[in-house]
Parts: sequence; C-alpha cells; structure tokens
Amino acid sequence: MARPRVFVARKMAQEALDTIAQETEMDLWEGELPPPRDVLLQKVQDIDGLLSLLTDRVDAELMDATPKLKVVSNMAVGFDNIDVPEATRRGIVVGNTPGVLTETTADFAWSLIMATGRRVAEGDRWTRSGKWKTWGPMILLGHDIHHATLGIVGCGRIGLEVAKRARGFDMKVLYHDAIRRKPEEEKAYGLEYVPDLYQMLSRADFVTVHVPLTAETRHMISSKEFAAMKKTAIFVNTSRGPVVDQKALYEALKSGQIFAAGLDVTEPEPILMDDPLLTLENITIAPHIASASVATRTKMANMAAANLLAGLKGVTPPNCVNPEVLRKK
Ligand code: GLV
Repeated sequence: MARPRVFVARKMAQEALDTIAQETEMDLWEGELPPPRDVLLQKVQDIDGLLSLLTDRVDAELMDATPKLKVVSNMAVGFDNIDVPEATRRGIVVGNTPGVLTETTADFAWSLIMATGRRVAEGDRWTRSGKWKTWGPMILLGHDIHHATLGIVGCGRIGLEVAKRARGFDMKVLYHDAIRRKPEEEKAYGLEYVPDLYQMLSRADFVTVHVPLTAETRHMISSKEFAAMKKTAIFVNTSRGPVVDQKALYEALKSGQIFAAGLDVTEPEPILMDDPLLTLENITIAPHIASASVATRTKMANMAAANLLAGLKGVTPPNCVNPEVLRKK
C-alpha cells in the first residue's frame, strides 16, 4: 500500500521528523519563513496529512485545495489558525500540543512579569546606548514583585502554573476565568476567584493574560480594561496578540494610564516596524518565544508527529481538538 503523503510546514526537532519519515512520504518545508500562501496551497494538493504551525492559516480554502486531507496536526497548543468547525464538517481530525509547554510558557510569563516590572530590557537598552553614567537613587525605578497582587485573566493550565510560581514571591493571587472556577486549586494555592473582571483589574499590581483567542476574547483587553487598572499596573500578555487592542495599549502606556507592559505576542506577528508601541520605552516585546526551550520544542514536535501519524491511521490523535470526527465514523 502506498505510504501516506504529508507536508511538514517547517523544520523542527530531527527525532520528530525521523518518526514521520519512517511512516510517510514526507515533504518538508526547509525555509526559515513559513511557506507563502500560494506555495502552501500548491504543496498540500495531494497530501493526506499536514503538520502546521501557528503561522499557517488552515481554512476552507486550504481544505478545498487538499481533498484527501485526513489530519491537521498543529505544533502549538493554540489552534486559532485553524478553522476547526470546517475541518470537523469535512471529517478532518485536528491535533494540538497541550500540556508539554505549560510550565515553559508559565516560566516565560514570569520572565516578562519580572523584566517589565523591574525594567530589565529598558535597562539593557540604556546600558548599550551609553546612558549609564552613574548609580542613581532615582534611575530606572520599577515596581516590586514580592508581596504585590497578581491578577490572572484566564486560569487554565498555563494560568495556574503562573499562579503557583507567585507563591515564591509571597504574592496575593487573584484570578478571573469566564469559563470555570477552580475551588480545589483555590484552596491548594491560596488563589482568590474574582467574578468581576474589572474588580480584579482594579486590584492587581500585575495583570497577566492566559486565554485562548476566540470570538469572545478578541480585543477583550481594550481601553475600558486598561482604564480599570492601577496607574502602577504592569500588564503582560503571553496568549495571543489579538486578545489585546494594541491601539488602546499604546494609549494606556503613552498616557501613563498603566506603568508598563510585556508582550510575547502581537497583532500582527511579527509586529509592524512602524507600530507606535515600538517608540515606547515602557514596553518589552519578545518575538513569541514563550514555549521556546530546547526540551519543550522537542516535546511539542514529537507530540505533533504522534498526532499526525495517528490521524493518518484513522485513529483519534492522542491530543485532538475535535475527537467527535472519528466517533461519528
Ligand atoms: C504557542 O503560542 C502555542 O500555542 O503553542
């Protein structure tokens, strides 16, 4: 029997590529940048499986171009780049890579919380540009993390890991989650659930966002939300760029409505070089690297490979976002 054909949209950990190549005819995109749209549409024409990244839009147009497609395996926990209802309608299973990146991403949220609160990136720019002339009692003063109040917007897997790390800093931890409350974790980690988002925002010294991007969460943090925050607030986003209204963030940072922000995600990605946010000193922007540790990216690649191969065999991938596809069959 002919081996299934797959397209892998970027180089990743070699062990995952080897696993895929053992069982398939693999076409690997070797470029540093994602395949351009027209190339992607052409590459997928004859494939049974696609290993995509969050930079690849997998929509009805792509599915139209690839009539044999059985599985899309996304090497990311987020899958807002995929039209999942459309895939489900067409009987295509979709996999993602949850769990393995939870702690690495939470660690990175903490990097941004600390770097932004204590002005690390700004201090580095200051040093390199020759502005460091002396130790000064009023130079580059930030805000303490220890004993401050942390407000977590969205307390799923990653939000909870961020909360757990706050205990080491003797922080008060508040959380708001529109979907579920976590009574056991509240007890175990001393979290306070705040049903009203605005109340939580008004109490937090640090606000960190951990929600998926959906129609409900798009631009959920905008002028009204920044207006609710303290003037000393530090805002961090490691979820998805479009969760934040960037114009509103710019206004809030520029006007001193909030103290500073740390982003790992922007809208669009990469951020446009003429985005006014880049003119501000009180923001730290990382290039979407929260899960980028050697170990975690290897685990994600292996998980994506396993999801892909399972889907090709007609088996529900170990991490599947639409398992109903195969239950129906
Ligand atoms: C990264 O942002 C991911 O969703 O895995």
